[in-house]
Amino acid sequence: MQRVVCPGSFDPVTNGHLDIIARAAGLYDEVVVAVLINVTKHSLFTVDERVEMLREVTARYGNVKIDRFHGLLVDFCANNGISAVIKGLRAVSDFEYEMQMAQMNYRMAKVETMFMTTNPLYSFLRSSLVKEIARYGGDVSGLVPDIVLARLRDRLAEELRPGPPAVKLGLPRTAGRLSARSAKLLTRVHCHAPYTHQSPARRARLRPARARPSGRLRADPAAHGAGPGRHAP
Ligand code: PNS
Repeated sequence: MQRVVCPGSFDPVTNGHLDIIARAAGLYDEVVVAVLINVTKHSLFTVDERVEMLREVTARYGNVKIDRFHGLLVDFCANNGISAVIKGLRAVSDFEYEMQMAQMNYRMAKVETMFMTTNPLYSFLRSSLVKEIARYGGDVSGLVPDIVLARLRDRLAEELRPGPPAVKLGLPRTAGRLSARSAKLLTRVHCHAPYTHQSPARRARLRPARARPSGRLRADPAAHGAGPGRHAP
């Protein structure tokens, strides 16, 4: 049985991903779509939500299975009897990074990588762009499956709504108690060029505590061998 893995973050799955999965399903006996569990990366959707969306949008393909993994992809392959990875290549810009990973995976465990050229309809498409456009109210219909579109709208609406779900964005818990306008402002502050459009006093308040000059140093810089204006490490 020829089994291939299609790994990724899928936050969320796009029509570009789906195109690669569907074409791979026509070539291999089984395609395992493996969602990377990456606790260090902030994601819009939880792994469970991403898996659920993938299951729904691939339900029509009998030989596509959705799974999740953490750690090395080659270990996932070894544990699941998989000898090849399938990746979509959108443009030359993808190639350098993808080739390094492919060669490293081969060197580590003789896992092969098959590159499939992306459908030109989706060559500009990536999940992070979809999220950014949707976040600013742009139209992403046709770029993601309809069920993903609906989930995206709901999730982004939740983020901007005052109340506990604001925490999902990685905002401080206080955001839930702020007005919608303040929460929106905080969202901007957190996601984009922080501080630069704020007054100096507000900038100082928003700056993380670690980056603030230490009170002691400001009081007596010479006592610590630090010149004026130097901050504590
Ligand atoms: O959708 P993404 O985030 O571009 O997918 C990247 C992914 C999951 C394919 C890649 O980061 C990966 O394989 N991660 C697993 C960890 C691993 O095996 N790293 C070594 C790669 S040589």
